Formats: sequence, C-alpha cells, structure tokens
Amino acid sequence: MKKVIVVGSVNIDVVYKVDKLPQLGESIRGYDLMKLPGGKGLNQAIACKRVYEETIFLGCLGDDTNLLKNVLLKDKINDKYLLKSNTSTGTAIITLTNHDNTIVVIPGANDEVSIEYIKDNISLFTKDSIVLLQNEIPQETNEFIIDYCYNNGIEVIYNPAPARLIDKELLKKISYFTPNETEARTIFNDDNLENIIKAYPKKVIITIGDKGVIYYDNEIVNIKAKKVDVVDTTGAGDTLNGILCAYLAQGYSLKDALTFATKGASIACLSLGAQAGMPSKEIIEKG
Ligand code: RIB
Repeated sequence: MKKVIVVGSVNIDVVYKVDKLPQLGESIRGYDLMKLPGGKGLNQAIACKRVYEETIFLGCLGDDTNLLKNVLLKDKINDKYLLKSNTSTGTAIITLTNHDNTIVVIPGANDEVSIEYIKDNISLFTKDSIVLLQNEIPQETNEFIIDYCYNNGIEVIYNPAPARLIDKELLKKISYFTPNETEARTIFNDDNLENIIKAYPKKVIITIGDKGVIYYDNEIVNIKAKKVDVVDTTGAGDTLNGILCAYLAQGYSLKDALTFATKGASIACLSLGAQAGMPSKEIIEKG
C-alpha cells in the first residue's frame, strides 16, 4: 500500500447555466448562479480521499476561502500542508449548456505553488508514495516534482489538463499520462488517438468522454464508461484520475484501477458541480 500525494490547484467555481453560448458581442441571460468548490488538484484529491484514506493534498488557498475550508473539513483533507496566500483563490468561470461546459480559469493563488513550497514539504515524497499532478500550477513546479520523483524512484501520474505543450522527455520519467482526447491531440500534434497510445504502451491513457478510456497493451484496450443520465460533466476527468490513483496505490492492476475509475467518473456526472457526485469506495464497488 502506498500513500497518494496530489499536488495541484484549488478553485472556487463560479457556475451558471445558459441555453446556448453567446456569440461575440452578444448579451444573453444566464441563470442558476452558484459558487462551488473546484480546481483540478483539489477535485482529484477529494475523489481519491473518498475512496482511499491515505491521501495528502498540496496546494495554495487564497484569502477568500470559507467555502473551501468547509470542504476540506467535510472530506477530512488535512490542511496542515496547504500554503495560505493573501491573493485571491483561483477562480473558474464555468458556463453550463445542456450537454457540455466551457471553463475560464484565473489562477490567483495557484501560481504560488512554487518549487520552494515543494522543497519545504519534500520529506513527504517518499518511495511509498504515488504523486498525482495536473496543469493548473506553474509548469516549473510540475517539472521539479517529476525530476525529483524520477531520481528517487517515486511513481508519478500526470493529468495534463488543461493542455500545455511539454517536452516529451518528461514522459520517460512518469508512469502514466492521462490526457483527454482534445488534450492528447494538442500535446502530441496528432489527430490519430490510436497512434498516440501505440507509441506509449500502458503509459498514455486517453479519456474519451462517455466512451470511457483507451490505452495500448499489446492491443487497444477500451474500458467503457457506465451509461448514466448526465447532469454535469464538470470534474469527471478529475474523478477518474483521483480514483485511478487510489486503486493503483492499493496495488490494483492498471486495468482494474481504470475499471473502478471510469465507473466512478460516470457516477460523478449524476450531480451538479465538480465534487458533489464523487462516489465512495462502497458505491464504486457495489454491483
Ligand atoms: O476539471 C474541472 C475543474 O476545472 C473545475 O472544478 C474548475 O475549477 C477547473 O479548474
């Protein structure tokens, strides 16, 4: 059994609905305005923690975080490792339409997740850890963590969301890379997903929305998503990554961990907001 260290962003998600996205220069009426906890890092930490107790989160809270403090308490995320900043907490403006969403992220305090902060907490990064990263903190911090983990035999799972162009050498240093299909096409500059996964067997795992995930292991493996009546897809990818780590840390095979993770991600889409529908271990393993 290993512990999971999630390093990443914390956001307040300002969510509202529209019937259709506005054209440039057009004003339209929105409704159902909500402020919900989010951020890819915190989302993934919570998805992981609901399944697996041994989960630590490293990130930075801003100066306006009552909402987030309650969230940390409820999910028993220990805040003792969190950085506190005087700048505003990261904010994501999320526009929900009937079937999808658009997101604009203002990083705020997430930009303070620095190499220095990681160095201050480096004693947590032991051989019995699995580290989970995304792309809402500075890239230099991610690269520092990946190098450190590589040099110290620590597994890293890297969810490159939102997409950033990266040095492909980084891929040699990590265990798993989990873009969605749009991110994969951007990062690898290739529209053919099969080519991409074949080039990185059992390493690049591409999430393909309601069709589940694909990766290559002597053949193309497609783990199908559970069919659900979708309420909100926000955070589905985060749920998948968090649960994937939770099961890998407990020694499950990649295929089994992904089977639980895709199921959990589908279940999360039954509720509004990134975190509300993230399931417990009991729910995932039932039926
Ligand atoms: O992946 C979903 C998350 O992306 C949201 O919670 C929002 O904060 C954005 O960062």
